[in-house]
Amino acid sequence: MNVQTLPAEKGNFNLKDYEKTVENFDWTEIEKEFSWYETGKVNLAHEAIDRFADDSEKKNQVALYYSDANRDEQYTFEDMKKLSNKAANTLKDAGIQKGDRVFIFMPRSPELYFAIFGAIKIGAIVGPLFEAFMEGAVRDRLEDSDAKSIVTTPTLLERVPVDDLPQLDTVFIMGEDVKEEGPYYDFKSRLDKSSEEFDVEWVDREDGLILHYTSGSTGKPKGVLHVHNAMIQHYQTAKWVLDLQEGDVYWCTADPGWVTGTSYGIFGPWLTGTTNVVRGGRFSPQDWYETLQRFKVTVWYSAPTAFRMLMSAGDEVVKNYDLSNLRHILSVGEPLNPEVVMWGEKVFNLRIHDTWWMTETGAMMICNYPSMAIKAGSMGKPIPGVKAAIVDDQGNELPPHRMGNLAIDKGWPSMMRTIWNNEEKFNSYFELDGWYVSGDSAYMDEDGYFWFQGRIDDVIMTAGERVGPFEVESKLLEHPAVTEAGVIGKPDPVRGEIIKAFVSLRDGEEVTEDLKEDIRTFVKKGLSAHAAPRELEFRDKLPKTRSGKIMRRVLKAWELDLPTGDLSTMDD
Ligand code: WTA
Repeated sequence: MNVQTLPAEKGNFNLKDYEKTVENFDWTEIEKEFSWYETGKVNLAHEAIDRFADDSEKKNQVALYYSDANRDEQYTFEDMKKLSNKAANTLKDAGIQKGDRVFIFMPRSPELYFAIFGAIKIGAIVGPLFEAFMEGAVRDRLEDSDAKSIVTTPTLLERVPVDDLPQLDTVFIMGEDVKEEGPYYDFKSRLDKSSEEFDVEWVDREDGLILHYTSGSTGKPKGVLHVHNAMIQHYQTAKWVLDLQEGDVYWCTADPGWVTGTSYGIFGPWLTGTTNVVRGGRFSPQDWYETLQRFKVTVWYSAPTAFRMLMSAGDEVVKNYDLSNLRHILSVGEPLNPEVVMWGEKVFNLRIHDTWWMTETGAMMICNYPSMAIKAGSMGKPIPGVKAAIVDDQGNELPPHRMGNLAIDKGWPSMMRTIWNNEEKFNSYFELDGWYVSGDSAYMDEDGYFWFQGRIDDVIMTAGERVGPFEVESKLLEHPAVTEAGVIGKPDPVRGEIIKAFVSLRDGEEVTEDLKEDIRTFVKKGLSAHAAPRELEFRDKLPKTRSGKIMRRVLKAWELDLPTGDLSTMDD
């Protein structure tokens, strides 16, 4: 294979150190960077916000540049401390306690960030929800986690089935003139009235921090629990991989409803005391370049889908903007095509650094960082302190160039601690001889670089977002015209994959454009827009095993015109 290699550059982290530290790497060295190493008092919010607000040199530094179509604001670390203290008081005064699950369901806004830190300051567990979730998706998550509270907006409140959720007794609404009665609280006026002083609730390193629901190939979305201890790896990777340095202005384009938008849209940058840019609203190439220019962004973390959309907007657009401050670009979420890496070289004159990790890993695991040569198309190498390997189905490590399960030796600081309410599911990740098995297939080359090959299960990655086929199939089956549904990811040049559904209809139903639209809208309304199939194909019957399980592998083979393989388990 013809691999394009881009030479190493200078960064925070140098390769010689890496070679020194990779054997017998000691995470406790990194713990020394936190104030709790001295004081014994742990809380991520203190490390990310308050300790900078209490530092006379850092307190007046801008922590957050927030902008969207209607708002344009900036907040220093001192402001962030006061405002998150107000949020903490607001939550606490309403009876929220340590360990309670507090969901945050609102479009990006400064208040979203204050609410998240407020919840962390009282020791609650934050449940971020993507603003596009519809009622079904919201209900599943609140129900599974026994959520006590949610912070939302009047518009999104319509999708929160408050009456069906007896545990959910505190609903904060961020709007104007909110009437307080029953479970409803006026978040804004309470924020305004509450004190700027708050004594942070000290927690154990192993206490819950955040609960991210993510999709697998079967069952409902599962709640991946992370604890405060994860900050060690958020911090370390922010330094070494994001390469954050004093004076940087950093922009992570991910929404905090997804793990990238929390681990690296919130924790990583603020744990390192970096100025963080948040841009609300929808994607447009002009707007993104404008954001990079206006805030003089130096470090930019985004996703292959976004880079491909920028690519397709054309190279001429870029020339209208001054992006001379940009120093370091990174990508996550799906395979970063070599073509995109070479485009980055051409238009930004910078390397795009791929990073691999998952909701479950909590932080970056396999990465390209400045001081290593990039092989375009490779995810890079494991960070110090992480041992990754390619293992066979018995858990034996495979030699270079053999494809197998991408697995990690457990025990990294940001590893998920459980799957909420589902210890069995949690344990199933470690069934191969104790390895954490990612569900991705990959191989390693002779230089230790990892190359992504695909998902082993049927999970779909569309525009960088993880969608479980089972969830979409279940929703399709609720549609009155549908009897069977099978959902797969179909390769797509921009989105990585799109969702394609094979559907069979009830007797007497006819395929019409109206019906197609109706089915799509049904999924959109029931789950979320990104889960709705872009393509629908109707078949009289779908391939099933004798036990009745839809054989997605056969659907995929149909779609890609590939041999269907072993059909011995298929129902006649
Ligand atoms: C995929 C996102 C190829 C992979 C942080 C993984 C990637 C899943 C890469 C996790 C990459 C993530 N190259 N594929 N650099 N990064 N993936 O939980 O299949 O939303 O298992 O976490 O995304 O998706 P999740």
